[in-house]
Amino acid sequence: MERALNSVSMTPLVLLVVVATGCPEEEQVTLEPPGPAVPGEMRTVEVTDDKIETGRALYTACVPCHGEERGGKVGQGPSLNSETFLAAASDDFLIRTITYGRPGTTMVAWGTTMEDSEIEALVAFLRSDGEVEPAELDESPLEGDVAAGEEIYGQICSACHGRTGAGYMETANGTGIGREAFLDSATNGYLRYVIKHGKSDTPMRGFAGDDPVAVANLDDDEIENVIAYLRDHAW
Ligand code: HEC
Ligand code: HEC
Repeated sequence: MERALNSVSMTPLVLLVVVATGCPEEEQVTLEPPGPAVPGEMRTVEVTDDKIETGRALYTACVPCHGEERGGKVGQGPSLNSETFLAAASDDFLIRTITYGRPGTTMVAWGTTMEDSEIEALVAFLRSDGEVEPAELDESPLEGDVAAGEEIYGQICSACHGRTGAGYMETANGTGIGREAFLDSATNGYLRYVIKHGKSDTPMRGFAGDDPVAVANLDDDEIENVIAYLRDHAW
């Protein structure tokens, strides 16, 4: 698995820059990250036919990890067409993730090679399958108990996301939710929503007690605790 991941991360772009600058292999091309996301408008990108077509063409670069149909690939990249994901993810979340990547993972900073308008076109393309209404996110201040959250994380979440939350880079099964780059891009509202309702059509099931496909039941306080743990341990 290690070998496979490494070879995936060595896209021609990264290889070129590494060779050109003589950087050690592990170093990635990154942009200065913009810091924690602030809740705001859910949709800022206007979806037009032109943008969708431009985005569709650009998306060929994303297919190896996110799949032709954008459903993700086990061990390589998360789903970008899950309905609950598209409902919970703001345009800002998508733009900043594509622009700055997730340093430390194979998701590179596409802002180093793409124009802002191209990244917007990609977002329009990701939004092009029918109408997914934005979710109403609870962005109230986080109140959780770190120690209690650590227990839940260890018992339930670590199996797929990795002991430290390194995700795909450690267990080849889920997003690196322990990483600062991910946690900075995700507001508390996004995290609450996704943990409660899951990412539909992926192994990430919802944990809300009333969800019929929940792998375990977590109440609101427990979800709060696990988020507090993730934020407290971000690395
Ligand atoms: C070499 C593999 C690879 C390629 C190519 C790639 N990605 Fe990713 N992408 C990933 C991985 C791995 C993650 C999850 C990283 C993590 O653990 O946080 C990710 C995460 C994302 C996310 C956030 C999804 C979420 O659930 O939080 C978006 C949006 C995204 N990628 C868009 C794109 C777009 C658009 C392209 C093409 C321009 C692209 N990616 C190309 C591997 C890749
Ligand atoms: C059965 C495996 C599994 C378990 C258990 C699990 N997850 Fe996940 N989780 C996943 C996978 C796989 C994804 C990415 C799905 C995709 O997009 O393909 C994910 C995605 C997520 C995301 C969205 C990240 C993103 O990509 O934007 C969050 C947040 C999350 N999980 C939190 C948790 C928490 C908190 C727990 C424990 C309460 C947990 N997960 C337990 C498999 C799991």
